[in-house]
Amino acid sequence: MKVSFAAPALPRSGALVLTVAKGGALDGLAAEADAAASGALSQAMAASRFDGEAKATIEVMAPFGLDAERVLVVGVGEELDARLAEDVGGTVYSALARSGSSSATLVWPQTGSAAAAGLGAALAAYRFDKYRTTLKDKDKPALAELVVAAPDAEEARRSYEQDGARIVEAVAFARDFVSEPGNVLYPESYADGLRELEALGVSVEVFDQAALEDLKMATLLGVAQGSAREARVVVMRWQGGEEPPIALVGKGVTFDTGGISIKPSGGMEEMKWDMGGSAAVAGAMKAIAGRKAAANVVGIVGLVENMPSATAQRPGDVVTSYSGQTVEVINTDAEGRLVLADLLAYVIERYEPHAVVDLATLTGAMVMALAHEYAGMFSNNDALAESLMSAGAAVDEKLWRFPLHDAYDKMLESHIADMKNIGPREAGAISAAQFLKRFVGDTPWAHLDIAGTAWTDKARPTVPKGATGYGVRLLDRLVRDVCES
Ligand code: BES
Ligand code: MN
Ligand code: ZN
Repeated sequence: MKVSFAAPALPRSGALVLTVAKGGALDGLAAEADAAASGALSQAMAASRFDGEAKATIEVMAPFGLDAERVLVVGVGEELDARLAEDVGGTVYSALARSGSSSATLVWPQTGSAAAAGLGAALAAYRFDKYRTTLKDKDKPALAELVVAAPDAEEARRSYEQDGARIVEAVAFARDFVSEPGNVLYPESYADGLRELEALGVSVEVFDQAALEDLKMATLLGVAQGSAREARVVVMRWQGGEEPPIALVGKGVTFDTGGISIKPSGGMEEMKWDMGGSAAVAGAMKAIAGRKAAANVVGIVGLVENMPSATAQRPGDVVTSYSGQTVEVINTDAEGRLVLADLLAYVIERYEPHAVVDLATLTGAMVMALAHEYAGMFSNNDALAESLMSAGAAVDEKLWRFPLHDAYDKMLESHIADMKNIGPREAGAISAAQFLKRFVGDTPWAHLDIAGTAWTDKARPTVPKGATGYGVRLLDRLVRDVCES
């Protein structure tokens, strides 16, 4: 769907969308429309107990006296900020997508949040239909254009083109990867897909199996060794500044069967999205490069498939990580931390970042703790944690901080190696984070466990069902807040 901006005017065709504040009435252009329709709109509002509550909608079909084929009235609540504007934009899109209208004009009350309304609508319009061959026209969204009419349309357009449109592309980039099934997206094809970032000026370096063996990334390679697909590590660099970089690290398990510690079959198909952390990093790189951010950012993703086979890693195997520390692999399904361990140690040694943030669909325990509302955050640095917290709140990719503590380290003691890769059942998300901590040294670091937020079975105003793209906007905002100011 195309988003454009125009000066406030009633449209000659398509749908007309008007906003009403909580407890308010149609005013300005909206009042003119109501008058032209002989009060049909205000009558409809009264008849449906519509009071302007945020995101509430009513629809009036073909009102006599107006050119619009339908009028949608949407509530904008009491305080219309950018965050709510996104949700209202998304709500408007969803209300009209299949209505039959191919264009809509949204009369927006302020310039400041007009771009956000367009952004919300565009995020809601994301679809992944490439494998549907029998979709009927009637079931496809007909809405192809949203015109946001704002007091200062020029300013709103500038803001949308600079930031909003870049976010939309970046989030779609991530959602596309996450949506792809495991037979299509595997380490090699994924690495090829990431090369698309080169067009934006991102340098993309792909380490193949042989290169990873030379580097001795053995905990990562141990996960990949049961698969017919070779592993890949991809380093993406955006150099928009001279200072030491911030490093973004992503778990990219393109399919997680659990390996020899195999998962139950029910719901296993969900493990195609076990690369959601890496997709967030890729999307963030796209957003950052897309807006030519004045920041130095290095993204690194570990791409592997976790399969059971004659060559698979066995429970009890001992592997030597890139850092030199040894790990006893008690459970081959705790593979994400093995991938991240090598990425973290490598990126810190090679690039000396001032901060590192990793994202991973790491533990089922995280889903038990937070369900699908917040992602869990673990950090050795309060300032970084605070920055992430406020970035998350600003873009509605919420974080909740969990503890790290030496006391939890005991959970990882091994009889044969420096550590084992799992703890007891209790506090599974914390012991996983405590495991990662052993590979970051003193570098300010945060680990985001996004197991509950990378995918959703329930649509939200700006997030359709399926791949959420969680983390793209959070990382983009973090870089903006801590590297560019
Ligand atoms: N990818 C899974 C975690 C996961 C589970 C993400 C459910 C999203 C939904 C991870 O690799 C895994 O299997 N973790 C195990 C760890 C356990 C063996 C210590 C888990 O959480 O069960
Ligand atoms: Mn697993
Ligand atoms: Zn996994």
